[in-house]
Amino acid sequence: MNLKKSLNTLLAAVLGTGLVISGVAHAQKYPDKPITLVVPFAAGGPTDTIARLIAVPMGKSLGQTVVIENVAGAGGTIASAKVAKSKPDGYTIYIHHMGMATAQALYDKLPYDPMKDFEYIGQVADVPMVLLGRKNLPPNNFKELEAYIKTNKDKVTMANAGPGAVSQLCGLIFQSRLGVRVTTVPYKGTGPALIDLLGGQVDILCDQTTQTIQYIKENRVKVYGVTTPKRLSSLPNVPTLDEQGMKGFDVKVWHGVYAPLGTPKPVLDKINIALKKALADPDIKTRLDTSNIDIVPVAKQNGPALQVHLDAEINRWGPIIRKANIPD
Ligand code: MLT
Repeated sequence: MNLKKSLNTLLAAVLGTGLVISGVAHAQKYPDKPITLVVPFAAGGPTDTIARLIAVPMGKSLGQTVVIENVAGAGGTIASAKVAKSKPDGYTIYIHHMGMATAQALYDKLPYDPMKDFEYIGQVADVPMVLLGRKNLPPNNFKELEAYIKTNKDKVTMANAGPGAVSQLCGLIFQSRLGVRVTTVPYKGTGPALIDLLGGQVDILCDQTTQTIQYIKENRVKVYGVTTPKRLSSLPNVPTLDEQGMKGFDVKVWHGVYAPLGTPKPVLDKINIALKKALADPDIKTRLDTSNIDIVPVAKQNGPALQVHLDAEINRWGPIIRKANIPD
């Protein structure tokens, strides 16, 4: 080894040690100020609700407030791009659902790479979806809805939260299986979309159960089917889309927590412990149970499991989306 090479090696070792020491020092102090949990959709919707539920107990175990920041727009991709470019210091973390996997097939080019620009903290919960109509929409069941849409395709409107949102994905699979395209109305989240459905401004919406079960039970919306292969325990009389003729219809929304690439491992570990504690909180479980939301098993509440799942989901959804000729 020549002198220059040995000096470079020595310098790299010294700098590397320095980085490790400063990372450890950072992790020891962490967190010494509030942490921002970015939500890629509007307040009041399903993702925001789960975020707010876990933020409180996570903040308690971390000893700092976890503040929600809603960065809504473009089906969640604006927030993903923002988080990917945020400082990797543990003060910006991110909750997103399976749009993290599906956006790749829905956009020609994304300003971030879901498999390269993030650290993975853990999976959170799985949420079924329901196909809803405004209360005074004429069809009273799924068969009538199919016929109604086919006859009125130029006037039926379907709300969603933009390309990359699961409401859009579910709605487009539904339309593709029906063989009919209707007018879609994009919102910044299904929170505001559901308000418009309740107000009768839009006709149909595919949304998660997080907010919707309550309105179904109060008879304030019509429900035409659930998107999972099995019926839901909280809506036992609502048939699945699969059993009503859309064979194999299977959309269940999973969620994960992320941080920008380069967030130190000891910091990620602290956040992961706080996430696991939040998910073990009986009050959170009760709240999620009432909406038929399943907290994932502990074995999935970690970074490596989330990373493997995300990769598998990108590979699963890409062909389905392309086959359904989805982007609109
Ligand atoms: C939301 O939180 O508003 C929804 O998860 C959006 C969506 O449909 O993906």
